[in-house]
Amino acid sequence: MKKILIAPSILSANFSNLEKDICMVEQAGADWLHIDVMDGHFVPNITIGPVVVKSIKKTTKMFFDVHLMVTNPEKYWESFYNAGADLIVFHNEILYDKKFLVDEIKETGIKVGVSIKPETSVKAILEILPFLDVVLIMSVEPGFGGQSFMYDIVNKITDLRKIIDNKKYNCLIEIDGGINYKTARICVDAGADVLVSGSYIFEAQNPQQILKDLKNI
Ligand code: DX5
Ligand code: ZN
Repeated sequence: MKKILIAPSILSANFSNLEKDICMVEQAGADWLHIDVMDGHFVPNITIGPVVVKSIKKTTKMFFDVHLMVTNPEKYWESFYNAGADLIVFHNEILYDKKFLVDEIKETGIKVGVSIKPETSVKAILEILPFLDVVLIMSVEPGFGGQSFMYDIVNKITDLRKIIDNKKYNCLIEIDGGINYKTARICVDAGADVLVSGSYIFEAQNPQQILKDLKNI
C-alpha cells in the first residue's frame, strides 16, 4: 500500500503558541508542515512571512511545505528558502515566467511545486509538469481555512494521476482544502499522495487521533 503523507496546515493552529501545536503534530506522526503564505492581493487574506517561518524552523525537524498564495512569488520565494523552506509551491495563475522560476528554485536544491486553483485545469500545467516535484490541487478557493471540499476537483486528481504514471514523472499530487476523513479517502482513491489538513486536525478534540486516522487511511 502506498504511503500517504499528511501535511497539517498551521493556518488553523494556535498562533499564540505555534511551537506547542507544531510539536503536537510532529509527535503524532505528521510528515510535512504546511505553511500558508498569503499577501492580501492574490487572495483576500494576509497570513505569515519569512520571519515566522525562520522562528518555527527551530522548533521542529519536519519538512517545510511553503504554499505561496502571492501575486509575485519571484520576489519573495528566496526569503522563504532562507527561512527554512524545503518545498516552495507557487501558483500557476501568476503572470511571471513559471519555468524560469522553477529552475531558479531548483538551483538551491530544495523541492518545487505548482498549485492550481479550483477553476484551473490540469491542461494548464502540462508543459511545466516534467520539471515539478509536486502539483498542489486546491480543493477550495485559496484564502481561508475551514471551507468545504469542492468535489468537482476529484476528476483532476484522477487525470493527473494517469498522466504522471504514464509518463513516469517523479511528481507528487498534493490536495489542499476541506480535507477530513471522508474527503481524504476520496482523494487517496483518486490518486493523491499528500493531504493538507488544517481545521479538521487543529480544531478537533483529539488532534493526535485525527492525524493517526488520516495517516492510516
Ligand atoms: C487555503 C489554504 C489551506 C487551508 C486548509 O487557502 O491553502 O492550506 O489552510 O485548511 P482546511 O483544511 O481547514 O480547509
Ligand atoms: Zn495551503
